Amino acid sequence: MSDKIFVDACFGKPTPYTPVWMMRQAGRYLPQYMKVREKAGNFLNLCHNPELAAEVTLQPVDIVGVDAAILFSDILVVPNEMGMELDFIKGEGPVFANPVRDEKALDALIGAEEAADKLTYVYDTIKLVRERLADDKALIGFTGAPWTLATYMIEGQGTKTYNICKKLIYTEPEFMHKLLAKVTEVVKYYLEKQIEAGVDVVQIFDSWAAALEKSKYMEFSWPYMKEIAAHIKAKYPHIPIIMFPKGIPAYLDEIDGDFDVFGVDWSTPMALAKEKLGERYVLQGNMEPCRLYSKEATYECVTSIAETMKEGRHIFNLGHGILPDVPVENAKYFVSLCKEVSKRA
Ligand code: CP3
Repeated sequence: MSDKIFVDACFGKPTPYTPVWMMRQAGRYLPQYMKVREKAGNFLNLCHNPELAAEVTLQPVDIVGVDAAILFSDILVVPNEMGMELDFIKGEGPVFANPVRDEKALDALIGAEEAADKLTYVYDTIKLVRERLADDKALIGFTGAPWTLATYMIEGQGTKTYNICKKLIYTEPEFMHKLLAKVTEVVKYYLEKQIEAGVDVVQIFDSWAAALEKSKYMEFSWPYMKEIAAHIKAKYPHIPIIMFPKGIPAYLDEIDGDFDVFGVDWSTPMALAKEKLGERYVLQGNMEPCRLYSKEATYECVTSIAETMKEGRHIFNLGHGILPDVPVENAKYFVSLCKEVSKRA
């Protein structure tokens, strides 16, 4: 047994209640976050400042009562340190000034350990959080999946159609694989260094998994995620790995690999995930985040998930990130309700 119920739950061990955290829990719905971000000047400065990043990492643990903190950073600091100029533009989100669309640009990117070594501010943030976080709370480190990172690196920004990426998949698959392999190498080192700095658990976010048809997902994303998980598992078997490929309920039959927890997104019925994957993996999730606008809607969903997962092997979470205009009170209600309904004698 670990001293952290979150870590026990990730390994499917019995816990006094089902632990809970929320994706994007450190963020704009918290007035305390907005204050610190203002002090930092902008979002990237905040990511680059370990003292302030540690402060906002800890806020949801103190304010909302979650069982795990997630490192405050962003998935896009990785391509940024591979040499891509990054900006977060108000109202528009992240933008890379020079997207990578050919071999020359790809070869110019910094790879492997050299890129991972540049993310010192992330490792410094982890060390500060670990010093300040209570011993019974877990710290989650994370990375974007190579596919999700590649969508931003190639498109240069968020996209509705992913047409530039997909054109490459169907016309220049070798280029796509070369880019994904390069990102995968950086991410392996990046997670190793997060673990060495003190994270207890890691999560791989594949937020844009659903952009690909099944056969292409199973060629261009999942194998790279599995490769990363196998690499980390071999070296750090005591560190649980959470995989979160968002929006692929129809692909669950093909999910396999050496990891511990499968993050269920809100579009996938929990009962379906349990039927397909519940024997092999602990399941995390999956309340539709917009239910947080209503306590009644929250109650209905939490009690239903609790009923489906009553034998355990579960971690409560939202089925994607919390939105900026959710009342803090409702987030607190969600967290305390999850603990309450799952209490075991
Ligand atoms: O609390 C946490 O979960 C930890 C911090 C965290 C952030 N981003 C902070 C953030 C994590 C784990 C992420 C991951 C991330 N970043 C993902 C995968 C998870 C997901 O939600 O699907 C993705 C796709 C990104 C890329 C990204 N970062 C986008 C598209 C945006 C703009 C949209 C938005 O929400 O504003 C960001 C910015 C971002 N990342 C913010 C935060 C708190 C908002 C910045 C701000 O204005 O303060």
